[in-house]
Amino acid sequence: MSSLFGWVIPYIVVLLFLGGMLLRIMSWLKIPVPFKLTVFPCPKTRAGAAADLVTESVGFKSLWRGGKGLWFMSWLFHISLAFILIGHFFGIGFLGQQFTWIGATSEQSLELSVLFGTYAGVALSLGLLLLAIRRITSPTMKFISSFADYLVLVLLIGIVGSGMYMRMFHGVTYEAVHDYLIGLITFHPVPLPDNMAFIFHFTLVQLLLLYFPYSKLLHSCGIFFSRWLIVRPHERQVIIK
Ligand code: HEM
Repeated sequence: MSSLFGWVIPYIVVLLFLGGMLLRIMSWLKIPVPFKLTVFPCPKTRAGAAADLVTESVGFKSLWRGGKGLWFMSWLFHISLAFILIGHFFGIGFLGQQFTWIGATSEQSLELSVLFGTYAGVALSLGLLLLAIRRITSPTMKFISSFADYLVLVLLIGIVGSGMYMRMFHGVTYEAVHDYLIGLITFHPVPLPDNMAFIFHFTLVQLLLLYFPYSKLLHSCGIFFSRWLIVRPHERQVIIK
């Protein structure tokens, strides 16, 4: 049973995730764009579009215009999620030793890793909680919410909750997770870390990956394909007859 969950299912999940993402992106690329039309005020040049992409994806510029409260909740959630994911890569990948590169001792590096992980985890929990409360308490939001909206919230709360539980109470060592993931990547699988919170966390992450290509979470990739960013209406259009 543990080899099925630890060694077989993760490969199937990654294949289904990559296949799903490829299908979705290919379907966007195939959509014909007969006219260079986009939404006003779009940038005139490619450099302007690149600058817009940065301010939009880091600062959530268009949400700011829509209301400061929603902007704050959403920004807090997304920025802390980015920190968490980067932190997972370095913390698990380099066993919390990443800060030795900038002069910290081994113990200091581990402490900093724990500190940043905890702060980012608290910020992510707060952002997620505020967004969940907004969806549940606002009558307008309730009216436009579907099962899918609640499903992603439940999955994310489960992932963040189990992550914070490991962080605060019943941790698993970076080494155990590192060895397990390296084993998977190099096709020399080692047993799953024996920690229920980790197994729960990892299973929910896999469910999220399976659902990701078909969920609204795909907007994180869709922004890079939006007409306002990829279409430059001011440039001369070449019409092939
Ligand atoms: C392959 C995927 C993942 C693995 C192997 C993994 C593993 C872990 C581990 C081992 C911890 C505990 C760290 C500690 O106690 O020192 C943790 C914590 C956490 N995880 Fe994950 N995780 C994964 C994906 C995710 C994703 C996608 C999210 C968010 C959507 C997430 C959110 C968190 C949070 C919020 C914490 C607590 C704060 C922190 O320690 O950084 N994890 N994760």
